[in-house]
Amino acid sequence: MPAPARTVTSDYLVIGSGIAGLWFAHRLSDAGRVMVVTKKTDVESATNYAQGGIAAAFAPDDSPARHCADTLQAGAGLARPEIVDIVTEAGPPLVRELARVGVAFSTFHDTQGREHFELGLEGGHHRRRIVHAADHTGLEIERGLIAAVRSRPQASFSEDVLALDLLLDTEGRCVGSLALDTVTGESVEFRARVTLLAAGGIGQVYPQTTNPPIATGDGIAMAWRAGARIANMEFIQFHPTSLYGHDVGGRAFLISEAVRGEGAVLRTLDGRTFMERYHPDASLAPRDVVARAIQSEMKRHGDAHVLLDATVIAPERIRQRFPTIYRQCFELGIDMTREPLPVVPAAHYVCGGIAVNTCGETSVPGLLAAGECACTGLHGANRLASNSLLEALVFADRAARKARDLELKTGASQSAIRDVTGLRFPAVESPADLVDRIRLLMWQEGGIVRTDRGLARADKELAALDQGPPGPGQTATPEECEAHNLLTVARLIVASARRRPESRGLHYNEDHPNPDIRFARDTVLSRKRRSLCSCIPQ
Ligand code: FAD
Ligand code: SIN
Repeated sequence: MPAPARTVTSDYLVIGSGIAGLWFAHRLSDAGRVMVVTKKTDVESATNYAQGGIAAAFAPDDSPARHCADTLQAGAGLARPEIVDIVTEAGPPLVRELARVGVAFSTFHDTQGREHFELGLEGGHHRRRIVHAADHTGLEIERGLIAAVRSRPQASFSEDVLALDLLLDTEGRCVGSLALDTVTGESVEFRARVTLLAAGGIGQVYPQTTNPPIATGDGIAMAWRAGARIANMEFIQFHPTSLYGHDVGGRAFLISEAVRGEGAVLRTLDGRTFMERYHPDASLAPRDVVARAIQSEMKRHGDAHVLLDATVIAPERIRQRFPTIYRQCFELGIDMTREPLPVVPAAHYVCGGIAVNTCGETSVPGLLAAGECACTGLHGANRLASNSLLEALVFADRAARKARDLELKTGASQSAIRDVTGLRFPAVESPADLVDRIRLLMWQEGGIVRTDRGLARADKELAALDQGPPGPGQTATPEECEAHNLLTVARLIVASARRRPESRGLHYNEDHPNPDIRFARDTVLSRKRRSLCSCIPQ
């Protein structure tokens, strides 16, 4: 490894500035020096684009126990009841705290003048429980939390810094991260007593995704290379309704499920509704059911998309409740108050990730994980809408408490470091070509509907792309690093899917269309050897 140009030392290193990283940083900024490393600007994250909101039981006819029941039902036998209980109980007080810190959610006043959160409805929830800021909840969360963290003297941000790999000492303990300053091109060593991975999701593994370009699975790939246990990567959620035919900032523009919650219905291009043939909850059926139904209707009719008809909602309600969606569509030439929107499913969320315990600890000492890159056991085989911001908040909070308690290893800044491969990826001809090949393969074989043959083909072709020794390769560019992380994540998804010859929740295999009790358990992968290539167990 080339010597880093500089070393930055803090007590707590946070990789990622979405809701998980920011809440953890906010919580610990009175306990020591916190360094938040983020690969683009501070706001750039999936969090920033969240529309629907954050689920928590506030309605008079609701309770954490009801929220828990809906979450367990969605999880298709794999959501862990004790985790679901923890998260749904912790939700209301933490959401109130988020509001106190400065996040302005939409509210209304009752006849006695008391203020309440306005609550939305989304698929799979049997009560109105989605706390939101109109349809730009994530933007508001980022604004509020960044302001809170930046106001703390012990907290700092390093923007445009790409974490490449975790630093492990000779005892296998995580003592920070090796990173690349993408503006100066310098390599930087960030040393810390505790490291939190909060690097978000993996949507960019697929060509059609609601996720922003930062979602290249770096956190999961780094944790994998460091030997952490990775769980349930086969459970990828496809959001049924992303806008067809328009790329907005490198992602498919999401049409929030809350639009269907307000009454919008799905139709085929000839104007007929179809969801009632697939599920009693029709357009508000669980996401996996809706995504598969749309795919099946598109195939049956030979259409490139279906329609989401929001013209049944009063125009003033659309403009008031969905100002961002309305404006974005209008700018693209579609007035959703007068005409249906063309929509297709898109990769949206990974339920699996770095396996953590109830305090966010991974299997690597000194390394915590929270948010979308972590697998806590909340979602099981399928995620209920708006439960991910909640999970990120609750587990970042628990991880922060754990980080305070951890017996802090002194002298982390001096520990000897085991081999780091971060800057020595094998050269690729063109990262863009590699990414295109991965994406096409994953859409065809690792997407909404899978088959044994398709998964075997994907496994073989991905392994062939993952050739070559890890060193003495050349210094990698950010694009090469991300391409390799995408490849690692794609291989983890396919390897996990091949270990599940059944259909459950988000994993649907046409050759095994039903759940099989023998596979009612998590898929956990781990590796011992730390090399970048041929890294996925066969
Ligand atoms: P993110 O918010 O994605 O943040 C990850 C951070 O890590 C970013 O700052 C990124 O730059 C940084 N990063 C990544 N790799 C590196 C690296 N190598 N080095 C340095 N930094 C790195 N969920 C809900 O509950 N409700 C919703 O309404 C909702 N709507 C959504 C709408 C959209 C369009 C999308 C894409 C997702 C939505 N989700 C929603 C899911 C939810 O937004 C995410 O799961 C959640 O925001 C993830 O938060 P996070 O903090 O884990 O990661
Ligand atoms: C949406 O607004 O439909 C997204 C909500 C989520 O992914 O939880």
